[in-house]
Amino acid sequence: MSDKKIKAVVAGASGGIGQPLSLLLKLSPLVDELALYDVVNTPGVAADLSHISSKAKISGLLPADDGAKVAFKDADIIVIPAGIPRKPGMTRDDLFNINAGIVKGLIEVAAEVAPNAFILVISNPVNSTVPISAEVLKAKGVFNPQRLFGVTTLDIVRAETFVAEITGKATSELTVPVIGGHSGETIVPLFSQVTPSVTIPDDKYEALVKRVQFGGDEVVQAKNGLGSATLSMAYAGFRFAEKVIKAAKGEKGLVEPSFVYLPGVPGGAAIAEKTGTEFFSVPIELGVNGAEKAVDVLGDLTDKEKKLLEAAVTGLKGNIEKGVNFVKNPPQK
Ligand code: NAD
Ligand code: LMR
Repeated sequence: MSDKKIKAVVAGASGGIGQPLSLLLKLSPLVDELALYDVVNTPGVAADLSHISSKAKISGLLPADDGAKVAFKDADIIVIPAGIPRKPGMTRDDLFNINAGIVKGLIEVAAEVAPNAFILVISNPVNSTVPISAEVLKAKGVFNPQRLFGVTTLDIVRAETFVAEITGKATSELTVPVIGGHSGETIVPLFSQVTPSVTIPDDKYEALVKRVQFGGDEVVQAKNGLGSATLSMAYAGFRFAEKVIKAAKGEKGLVEPSFVYLPGVPGGAAIAEKTGTEFFSVPIELGVNGAEKAVDVLGDLTDKEKKLLEAAVTGLKGNIEKGVNFVKNPPQK
């Protein structure tokens, strides 16, 4: 691996995901500089983390004095968990009205001061916030689809956990592809393509699919008004960020599904033609340039998976269009 120095940024660093994610990045030997940005409390979070004797140099910025620009400047990787989480009874789309503007504003700053950064969007609804990010970057003339990722790793993490529970296999040996988007029926687990292969009993298949698709709701309900998944998301966000950083440093063979703009990723245009959606999550081979190849896993779907895919694409189209429109035809204030 190269000794390329890495500056990482967490935007939304004081939140439920932001704090544990910042901790994991602070602990990582792969990170040299860590800038924490939020509208509240980042000086405190940064002061706290700065006492940890790992190597990353840490700073905490607020909006005052162009804090976002200072935090984002020349970043190699920007991870964005800024925005409100769900309460019971809400869909991720219900977060759109608030989170769309938050993400748009943060991407505008990234476009200006860190146009080459890998951008990892966690803020929901991911199916819309990633298209918003792409449109903002396009409008600023700095869109590189190989560097923009919607983080769907939590769906993969859940699928690994739930498949392991049913099959008795260790999670560490399982790779479970999950494709599509990141909400309810747009999430498509491909149990027929698990490696090493597993057999899901027929009477358990439907419940397992639903559990992966609606795992987020389980946490929202259990937290009972106090938010959604934070700790498992911090783990998942770190797992994906770490792979992106390792790949940027030259490590090979790193693959993880992510929600990307397919026509801009090698191998992606053909997949987009099959699905009829430009933004879609498939396994992505990561490299020094970011998303170096979109892997086509659509060839061997079972009939049940084909049906899941159909429902996913229908839902995704509306979510994507809503995001694109938000930037192209901004709502009147
Ligand atoms: P949270 O409310 O605990 O934290 C959000 C943080 O964002 C807060 O600290 C808030 O001050 C900050 N923030 C708000 N506006 C900001 C701005 N303009 N700039 C910078 N920071 C800003 O919420 P959370 O539980 O950490 O969740 C954050 C988001 O992540 C939610 O939208 C949630 O739905 C989403 N999420 C996504 C996934 C996924 O799989 N992609 C998983 C879990 C949660
Ligand atoms: C999740 O999958 O846990 C997140 O997207 C948060 C949510 O709203 O469910």
